[in-house]
Amino acid sequence: MIKAKRHWLRICGLSLMLPFAAAQADDGATPQGSTLCTKIPIPCDAVIAHRGASYQAPESTRPAYLLARDLGVDYLELDLQRTKDGVLVAVHDNTLGRNTDVAEVFPDRADAPVSSFTLDELKQLDAGSWFNASYPERARDSYSGLEILTLDEVIDIAENGDNHPGLYIETKVPEQFPGIEQDLRDKLEARGWLGDAAKTRPAAEGGAVKVGDGPGRLVMQTFSKASLEALEQTMPEVPRVLLLWLGEGGIEAAPSEPQAEDESSADYYARQQVASPEAFRSWLDFAKDHGAIGIGPSAVQTEHDGPFSSQFSYMELAEPWMIGMAHDDGMLVHLYTVDEPADFERYRQRGVDGFFTNRAEQLLTFYGHPAQDQEAILERHGY
Ligand code: G3P
Ligand code: CA
Repeated sequence: MIKAKRHWLRICGLSLMLPFAAAQADDGATPQGSTLCTKIPIPCDAVIAHRGASYQAPESTRPAYLLARDLGVDYLELDLQRTKDGVLVAVHDNTLGRNTDVAEVFPDRADAPVSSFTLDELKQLDAGSWFNASYPERARDSYSGLEILTLDEVIDIAENGDNHPGLYIETKVPEQFPGIEQDLRDKLEARGWLGDAAKTRPAAEGGAVKVGDGPGRLVMQTFSKASLEALEQTMPEVPRVLLLWLGEGGIEAAPSEPQAEDESSADYYARQQVASPEAFRSWLDFAKDHGAIGIGPSAVQTEHDGPFSSQFSYMELAEPWMIGMAHDDGMLVHLYTVDEPADFERYRQRGVDGFFTNRAEQLLTFYGHPAQDQEAILERHGY
């Protein structure tokens, strides 16, 4: 019910009666979420399932996306790459060693980029067993042998449940894939997610989530300024978000001591600082000048020493003044990648508009949705 209500508010355009942004807090942040989401067709308090429900199932695989969809997330997040034979696929890393058995199947190509494999070759890989080995407490026999998914297959998942989530698509290492933005547009048009066909998409009948049926069904995200420009050219009508990173290739960082041998990456990232407010400002300006509707900054996770979250605890790019600066520019703030309730609370107090999360079930609960039985959902789908 709660979910249905917040979508109804958006659909009914109540935003027109609301102020542009909530009153500013003394520290420059907008308290408890801005109202920008009522002006932009993106859900307020957006729940973005980072590589699917990737705490409970292997990232970017079928059970991860099915679980996220059925839990009721607003968006399925995916990292887009292209195979050697031109097929769009959902893979995060540039190489396949971390989460497939590529070293066994193609021993001479264990470090080769994803782009050098055909779809047929990628489909020979096991993208699930690594998860069972890394997280035995969440392992399932049925995860062994899971396939890498094509974009088409992720779209099928988004379309074929009671809930209709949107897609939040990142162009990953786009410099390796010239023209991938146009390929993506062509695919999305062919699937009826863009263009004329999108105007007559059938609405979800059963589920509470209807993001996939509305104008916010797609969000494009990228760390690359060049790709943001390409997305602006190829998909001007699609909401776009510039992801933010501190350091090489990103916002200028203040000088800092190198990472110590016994220092975790999470601790190292957590002590990095922007060089100046102007350095941060310049990336916001670029985003705004190129029509982005928001930014995606990184976050520090409080429990970043845990076995899973340590992979996703990054630099603090969501200090109150940074969020305030983005909101003042009329841009949403979607934070990556946050999994723990204490961190949801801390950043929501600062006014962020949504989170990328591996733990969709925890974020949905935090936002007031009833808890669901993840085991039952996975079992219903044969996992
Ligand atoms: O896309 C948001 C977040 O996913 C960015 O980081 O490395 O997980 O793609 P990454
Ligand atoms: Ca991503």
